[in-house]
Amino acid sequence: MEGLQLIAVGGAEPSRVVTNDDLSKLVDTSDEWITTRTGIRQRYFCAEGEDTATLAVQAARQALERSGLQLAQIGCCVCATVSGVYAAPSTACLVQRELGLAQDIPVLDVNAACSGFIYGAAVARGLLAARPGDARRYALVIGSEQLSRMMDMTDRSTCVLFGDGAGAAVLELTPDAEFAVDLGARGDMAIEFPTGGPIRMDGRAVFRFAVDALPRTLHAVLNAAHRTLDEVDWVVCHQANSRIIDHCIKKLGADPAKFYKNMDRHGNTSAASIPVALYELQESGRLQPGMRIACIGFGGGLIWGGMLITVKGSAV
Ligand code: ACO
Repeated sequence: MEGLQLIAVGGAEPSRVVTNDDLSKLVDTSDEWITTRTGIRQRYFCAEGEDTATLAVQAARQALERSGLQLAQIGCCVCATVSGVYAAPSTACLVQRELGLAQDIPVLDVNAACSGFIYGAAVARGLLAARPGDARRYALVIGSEQLSRMMDMTDRSTCVLFGDGAGAAVLELTPDAEFAVDLGARGDMAIEFPTGGPIRMDGRAVFRFAVDALPRTLHAVLNAAHRTLDEVDWVVCHQANSRIIDHCIKKLGADPAKFYKNMDRHGNTSAASIPVALYELQESGRLQPGMRIACIGFGGGLIWGGMLITVKGSAV
């Protein structure tokens, strides 16, 4: 089956910065506690007029601009989210309307929580592959969240962890791409996002799950790609907690410099966290043509997903 390659990425930051000190005025917590346990120093929350859809539109528009492609070349649009404003229209349909994407392409949301971007890419690959005669071989895959509207701001065990944001990628389906995915799930209530919130979580159970799922999924996707970690340029994990990533680095005896981290500035933005990290790598000139990136998601479901993808030619 043909694989995906990364053409370009866009990102959107909500306008309200919320620091750990800001939260310590709402609940009994401290910058020291949050930083030590999670690595998070601040997060962005949506302000008036901003939501999952507006962030998704902003990130998608930027990804398209960076790609240099025309709207008419997009063959499907998938948005990963657990915080869409509407069940229908989907966030992806709202993006389609705002951007003016074609009407004869598949457009849908995917709910795979913090693995949503990986699942979204896998779905997009299948949708493009199902239309072999269609010349539009590019997918717009978005991760967008407004978790701040689903949080109990009196619950210190959850309200310090999450943030809002969006990232979007233009991906091309091509026969010569080096691409692999590994997806899985285990129905479990360790973390709950009830419709409308609030988010509830057994933090220790989720931590135990994450420190197992992350290295296991990374191994699985490297095996599927017939690659070693040494041959990968970046590992972009879901940005839930710095200690989860550090645990994985230690377990694998890996080079910490390969593991991108930005939870200090964004907190945990669920489906947005991986594309936002890719966006920051691109914007800081650290994504080069031909680079191999392993993206690993894990989270609510419980659900996990890994993807190995390469950066195309000279587009980024
Ligand atoms: N500030 C101060 N104290 C707090 C806070 C806070 N914000 N939150 C909890 N505490 C207290 C608890 O009440 C408890 O006090 P007690 O000992 O008097 O009962 C103490 O700190 C320890 O609480 P624990 O929950 O055991 O703390 P732990 O060391 O496990 O850290 C944390 C909590 C950071 C949530 C950790 O369990 C974790 O990172 N889990 C993974 C969570 C995660 O990554 N979720 C997202 C993945 S899924 C997804 O992204 C959708």
